[in-house]
Amino acid sequence: MMRKTLLITGATGLVGKALVKQCLADGYTVHYLSTQKSKIVSLTNYKGFYWNPQQNIIDIACFDGVEVIFNLAGASIAQRWTNSAKASILSSRTDALALLHSSIEKNRLPVKHIISASAVGIYPDSKTRYYEELFQGTDASFLRTVVKSWEGSLKTFQSLDVKTTALRIGIVLDSQEGALPKIMGPIKNYFGAALGSGDQWQSWIHIDDLVSLFMFVLEFKLDGVYNAVAPNPVQQKELTKLIAKVLQRPLMLPNVPEFILRLMLGEMCAIALESQRVCASKIQDAGFKFNYIELEPALEDLIA
Ligand SMILES: NC(=O)c1ccc[n+]([C@@H]2O[C@H](COP(=O)([O-])OP(=O)(O)OC[C@H]3O[C@@H](n4cnc5c(N)ncnc54)[C@H](OP(=O)(O)O)[C@@H]3O)[C@@H](O)[C@H]2O)c1
Repeated sequence: MMRKTLLITGATGLVGKALVKQCLADGYTVHYLSTQKSKIVSLTNYKGFYWNPQQNIIDIACFDGVEVIFNLAGASIAQRWTNSAKASILSSRTDALALLHSSIEKNRLPVKHIISASAVGIYPDSKTRYYEELFQGTDASFLRTVVKSWEGSLKTFQSLDVKTTALRIGIVLDSQEGALPKIMGPIKNYFGAALGSGDQWQSWIHIDDLVSLFMFVLEFKLDGVYNAVAPNPVQQKELTKLIAKVLQRPLMLPNVPEFILRLMLGEMCAIALESQRVCASKIQDAGFKFNYIELEPALEDLIA
């Protein structure tokens, strides 16, 4: 049987690398777009193509045989939010989607489905709400503006008859990259502490479950918006406590006050201090089974 080809943007990042591995294991051929020429390789079932969404440059051969796109591209939000960083966090996401859109339109490409990363940062900071996908409220904060525009750009594919799926991803827990190693560092070295009040809700997901969730959406051709978070979000103090427990380290220090985090990280401290308690029911009702429902076993798996 001929292998089906998937196109992945942001394939070289934390989520992308894990997703590529699964796609190859499942027998797909992977084409990927990278903004870094040094990251482009061409193997039998894994081929890289260059693009530069800011400059409207794309190697159109990336679409050969492609009916489905996984879109993960975007400049990292874990950097100081200077004005230029903010501009690039937003435009890297909207430009990437705009370039895919114009390429499909101009070349009348037979793409049927685009499955894109989005983020739980679309939901306003709240310690009491429990967010389902239907929630409509918003505010003018930077994160909300970015994620709203990102999902807005995704919706434009509907006019091309391309099915769209937005996965509102929570904090991705991975042993090598992303939030977990950053939180683990100080705890390992005996100066771990909860951040701010510690009461903020953090909606997490184990990297393996996130990859399975992307594959599930692909297989069952789900469209629309889905939260991509484990069914049991925790408060920040609980996350810190459980990481310390799994690492077998004591937590001796008081919480790091919010103003210190603001001084250290600037406005970007929002990613540690905002509270989003997000509901996983919609994807579960569609039949998806999480392997990691509770945080402690997820941490044991990742840290062991
Ligand atoms: N990790 C999380 O906890 C988390 C949580 C919520 C949402 N998400 C979202 O999920 C997606 C994947 O996350 P991740 O953690 O895998 O991110 P990541 O490790 O930062 O990787 C993102 C990829 O995007 C590409 N990229 C970077 N700057 C770009 C630019 N200016 N224009 C186009 N592409 C650019 C890079 O690929 P090349 O260098 O090959 O071009 C990079 O490998 C991101 O969009 C992220 O916002 C992640």
